[in-house]
Amino acid sequence: MPMHRFGPTRRDVPAIGQGTWFIDQADRDAAIAALRLGLDRGMTHIDTAEKYGGGAAEEIVGAAIAGRRDEVFLVSKIVPDNASVAGTLASCEASLARLGTDRLDCYLLHWRGALPLEDTIEAFERLCRAGKILSWGVSNFYVDDLEAALAVAGEGRIACNQVPYDLTERAMEQQVLPWCETHGIAMVGYSPFGHGRFPGPQTPGGRLLAEIAAAHDATPRQVALSFLTRRPSLFTIPKAADRQHAAENSGAENVRLSATDIARIDGAFPLAPAP
Ligand SMILES: NC(=O)c1ccc[n+]([C@@H]2O[C@H](COP(=O)([O-])OP(=O)(O)OC[C@H]3O[C@@H](n4cnc5c(N)ncnc54)[C@H](OP(=O)(O)O)[C@@H]3O)[C@@H](O)[C@H]2O)c1
Repeated sequence: MPMHRFGPTRRDVPAIGQGTWFIDQADRDAAIAALRLGLDRGMTHIDTAEKYGGGAAEEIVGAAIAGRRDEVFLVSKIVPDNASVAGTLASCEASLARLGTDRLDCYLLHWRGALPLEDTIEAFERLCRAGKILSWGVSNFYVDDLEAALAVAGEGRIACNQVPYDLTERAMEQQVLPWCETHGIAMVGYSPFGHGRFPGPQTPGGRLLAEIAAAHDATPRQVALSFLTRRPSLFTIPKAADRQHAAENSGAENVRLSATDIARIDGAFPLAPAP
């Protein structure tokens, strides 16, 4: 599995990981089996959140990683309404308990809310000093939010910004990705299959993906995951509650897109769709 340096953390993390939104809606044993198969295949970056299923997703992740904690780069998130100083400390403890672990590799503010960033960041730094989290980051932050967080935290503290990023939703490449790269922050793309809206085989884009996939003995989704992680700053976290899906997603590690492939995908899924 290709490994990318995760922002300023000095950790190399699989470019393709595993998401868990709605994983609690799937058959529990199947979901755990899918996550474990993903771990077996190197997708050891697992993303979850206290919000997902009201903690149920974290419990499933806890079951999946039981006995394998050290293999995993474990990420969870706090909802902004909880992100006061005391609230962040309490939410983190609750997430650690549901996950059955003593530490998170990265803890994210799920999106920017009304509580002061200063308070959330102070709590994140306290959690770092206590060894409860090894790094922290943000999610759904645009450049003005990132500037605000940077002004509070200083350089070298924000590990990542987790944002929507799929073939049909590439807006983050315009300003957020360059900003993250300038400041050495990982950009973790979520919903890489558009949360169920992957380009169908009858669409022009879908046909191109199929053609490129055939040339690489791969699948269109594997080509998409490879494209979405084509820069060292990029990570992706497809969610799969199905073992076959997890196996297919992990197989993207073998796809090495050429500059021509990338240019063709770039043309078929333009950065800024025509108005
Ligand atoms: N920070 C945020 O605000 C935020 C927002 C959204 C998402 N996220 C994170 O990003 C993760 C991924 O995004 P997402 O869950 O929205 O959607 P996604 O990964 O784009 O798509 C998930 C859907 O694709 C299906 N799928 C996965 N692999 C497949 C394959 N190889 N073939 C066919 N279908 C496949 C899954 O089915 P099965 O489950 O049946 O396998 C599921 O229905 C989330 O789970 C979450 O961890 C973060």
